[in-house]
Amino acid sequence: MHVVLGVAGGIAAYKAALLLRLLREAGHQVRVVPTTAALEFVGTATWEALSGQPVTTSVFEGTESVEHVRIGRDADLVIVAPATADLMARAAVGQADDLLTATLLTATCPVLMAPAMHTEMWQNAATVANVATLRSRGVHVLDPDDGRLTGADSGPGRLPEPEAIADAALALVTTSGGEGDLAGRSVVVSAGGTREPLDPVRFLGNRSSGRQGIAIAADAARRGAVVTLVAANVDAALLPGGVDVVRVETTADLQRAMQDRAAGADVLVMAAAVADYRPAEIAQAKVKKSGEGLAISLVENPDILAGLARGARADQVVVGFAAETGDDAGSVLDHGRAKARRKAADLLAVNQVGEGTGFGDVPNAVVILDTAGEIVGRAQGTKSDVARGLLDAVADLLSRRSLVDGAETMSARAATLPE
Ligand code: C5P
Repeated sequence: MHVVLGVAGGIAAYKAALLLRLLREAGHQVRVVPTTAALEFVGTATWEALSGQPVTTSVFEGTESVEHVRIGRDADLVIVAPATADLMARAAVGQADDLLTATLLTATCPVLMAPAMHTEMWQNAATVANVATLRSRGVHVLDPDDGRLTGADSGPGRLPEPEAIADAALALVTTSGGEGDLAGRSVVVSAGGTREPLDPVRFLGNRSSGRQGIAIAADAARRGAVVTLVAANVDAALLPGGVDVVRVETTADLQRAMQDRAAGADVLVMAAAVADYRPAEIAQAKVKKSGEGLAISLVENPDILAGLARGARADQVVVGFAAETGDDAGSVLDHGRAKARRKAADLLAVNQVGEGTGFGDVPNAVVILDTAGEIVGRAQGTKSDVARGLLDAVADLLSRRSLVDGAETMSARAATLPE
């Protein structure tokens, strides 16, 4: 495989040499494209010796073979590590003022960026907006590690380890080149349960293990999709290989992670158990016992699924879950039907919770409803069986969508939205 390794100008550039070695040992041809600033940290001789290929930074070298266009076009995978704030800013606005940014503009293959910078730069509104722009265009931007930075400081901004970058990047190509019925599709799945902090040590949470969403992410990858799993408080041991994992804690984190990736996705699955309410205020210090009762004031969280469904394009498929128990007001299915219409997702998987089904490592059974609340399928068995059944319905809808005029879908969704 032809891999382009872009290296931007940051102290972590030396770790890109280890990444290059890993890629070469895995049998790939790697063309290193540093920025001029990157050469201040690691020089041309190192890159040429380790890659066995010439190294240039300028669009004015190799003009006889139109290098600034050819390198990107020929690539099967582009990795930028470290991706600095400056490089991502230039990529986000589409600049082509050096060989690396020109390559990013001409590449049609999967692109993965591994950011590294000081925490203040990573959290600056400009960088946050640039990362969101890149993600919305389908660029896979990893979250940086949290740890020691260049000086004595530490925090989010550290380059992920070279092995983790190589794994995440190669998984993009392995899966996107797959043969399955979701080959080439981008699928974003949320899983787990959100936690809403009350004070520095306590939170309001729920019992979702994340297993159902994880099974969906794993099956989507097996069927050839490029998958991002937005994992809310999921046990690390459960996380599958071959998918890009974004870890989140609160509902606000999860909403941001989903919205940032929504535009670049073909399928959005909300399998996470999202807290309906969060504390109105988070105490800065641990709340002490007062000897009396404690009243906590809660405010409602946004409905992420309904928001994604409202903003979805006609060619996208939005899937939600509804964990229901029957009551005097109606059966599980009655509640599911009402929710399908209220949320206006394309598909809603309704499951009965309690009595040995639903949460944790237990069998599951779902009825799959469409936007209008009509039954379009059923799936039961292990969580992997349910994932397969649900993705069968998704693949079916995607293929029918490509045959019909998308505008009909838009109006079907709009018709079910509340006034
Ligand atoms: O309304 P209810 O919580 O039963 O809806 C469940 C579905 O809605 C799930 O797909 C869940 O991920 C999603 N949800 C959401 N935002 C919320 C609450 C639920 O996206 N605030």
